[in-house]
Parts: sequence; structure tokens; C-alpha cells
Amino acid sequence: MNWTRKHLLGLEELSAEEIMIILQTADNFKSVSERAIKKVPALQGRTVVNMFYEPSTRTNLSFTVAERRLSADVLSFSKSGSSVSKGETLVDTAKNIEALGVDIMVLRHAAAGAAKLLSENVHCSVVNAGDGQHEHPTQALLDLYTMREVIAENPKFNDFSDIKIGIVGDISHSRVARSNIWGLTKLGAKVMVVGPTTMIPPDIEKMGVEVCHDMDRAILECDMLNMLRIQFERQSGVCPFPSISEYTRLFGLTSKRLKRLGREDIVIMHPGPVNRGIELSPEVADGKQSVILRQVENGVAIRMAVLFLVNAASASK
Ligand code: CP
Repeated sequence: MNWTRKHLLGLEELSAEEIMIILQTADNFKSVSERAIKKVPALQGRTVVNMFYEPSTRTNLSFTVAERRLSADVLSFSKSGSSVSKGETLVDTAKNIEALGVDIMVLRHAAAGAAKLLSENVHCSVVNAGDGQHEHPTQALLDLYTMREVIAENPKFNDFSDIKIGIVGDISHSRVARSNIWGLTKLGAKVMVVGPTTMIPPDIEKMGVEVCHDMDRAILECDMLNMLRIQFERQSGVCPFPSISEYTRLFGLTSKRLKRLGREDIVIMHPGPVNRGIELSPEVADGKQSVILRQVENGVAIRMAVLFLVNAASASK
């Protein structure tokens, strides 16, 4: 199967085969990042703009590194200091940026569907870098890539169908959870979503996942835990749990808890930024079972793969 998509908007629309094409393409780009000269000419002469309407550290810098390693010309746009404050719409802004000769737009926006809207209004490729509570496809792809490495390193596992992943925390507000669920279920993994009732959407089982409100059970049953940040900025004034210390007591991960349950081998993931001392204690976040920084490292190869593939599809159309 060949890659034919000019845009990457989410994992919901991708088949398992398309997801595997991205992961396999990232294998080749990971080796580029391990060379002394970390650059290939794949996007030479192409211009990519990173349009960030929301704060970002990892995704913004990771895309920038990926674009430079592909030899693209890179433009940065952030909402603050732009003409958005004068009332310019997203589509008008994008059309003006495209008129500068841009080939690929990477968009992070607070509105679900923003990347799709852009893809319907510009001629260039659009890559979704996180749209509201909807999807964060490149985060899920780098999570899948990291899980695939863990599977390959562990003789207990053959493929995704052998693993159970717990996604823990603020599922309702999480685009990372949604993209992970689409990707993991398509690849055949078992998925458990874990958290208080108030943080789990009522119909989530329809996405093919198991719901669990008992963190100890999740720790005992899962091979890997993807710990989510409580997204205080997305809550509409009503805190979904009595207090932060209550949440930490019930759903937080500490080395003491892992030791008590005999699960010091469980693999710990987190998309970042981590609320240290809330969902993860510092010794777990930095411990030997944590692959958090490996996720960040793999993000560059994944984003190089995505940019390479959408550019190739766009050029062949
Ligand atoms: N994981 C993630 O999207 O982090 P940033 O918000 O820092 O980009």
C-alpha cells in the first residue's frame, strides 16, 4: 500500500496499514538523528510554517527540528504579536501565509476541527498539531512508535495484540487520549481508560475500550500506563474531583504504590508537560520504567516521517 494523503488531520481517518507506513518511515528517519550530520535533503526547496495558536514546548520545537533535519525552510507563526489581535480569522491568516509560498502548514489550535477547516480552504498540505479536545495525531503516533519499541525489546510480546495499555486521567478533555485510542485499537491493542467517572465520557466504550475507576486494578492488569495531565485550563470552572490531593491519592503514581503492587516493571508514558506530584511523583517520572524522554526523542522521527509523506503525496497530485 502507498501513502496518498496530502493532509494528516487525525488517526480516526487512518487505517492500520497507513499507521504502520508512518511508523516504518519513521524507522528510516530515526537513523538520520543518530548520525553526526543530522540532515537529509528530502524537503529542500519546500517551505513549512508552524502556526501555533496555543502554547507548546514539545510539539512546536519537535516539528521545527524535524523540518530542519529535512532541509525545509521554516517559518514560525504564533498568535501573540500577530494580526489575530486585530480580528483576522484563521482562514484569512492561513491564506495570507500560503501566498508567501508555503507548502505545508502545521497547526495547533484550541478549536476542534481547525486543521480540517484549514485543509478545506488552502491548497497546501495541513498537519494537525493538536485541535482542541479532538485529536493530537503526531503525539499518538510517537506514543505508538515508543510502544512498538518496547514490544520489540520484550520477549513477552510479539505485537500490539499482546499488550494492554492504561490511559489514565482527564480522558474527557484529552485529544491525546482520543488519538491514542483510535491508533491503539486499530493496531489491535487492548485499551483501558482509567479515572474518576467525572473525567471519562459516558459513551467511551463505543470506541472499543474498557473503563476502570480503580487505579490499583489498572496497575495490576496493564503492561504500560499513559499518564495524562489534568487539564485545568480546559475545565469550565467546575473541578471534576474534590481536591488535587484526593485525585493524587486515588489515581497518582508513586514508586511506593508500584512497589506495593509488585509492578515496578510497568512502562510509564506521559505526553508532557507533567504535573509533578499530581499524576506522577518525580521518582516515577524520572525512574527507570519511565520512557517519557524517549517519547520526545521519537517525536522528531515521527514528525519527519509525516512531513515527508504528506509532501510526497502532495507533489504527486
Ligand atoms: N505533548 C504536547 O503536546 O506537549 P506541548 O503542549 O508542549 O506541545
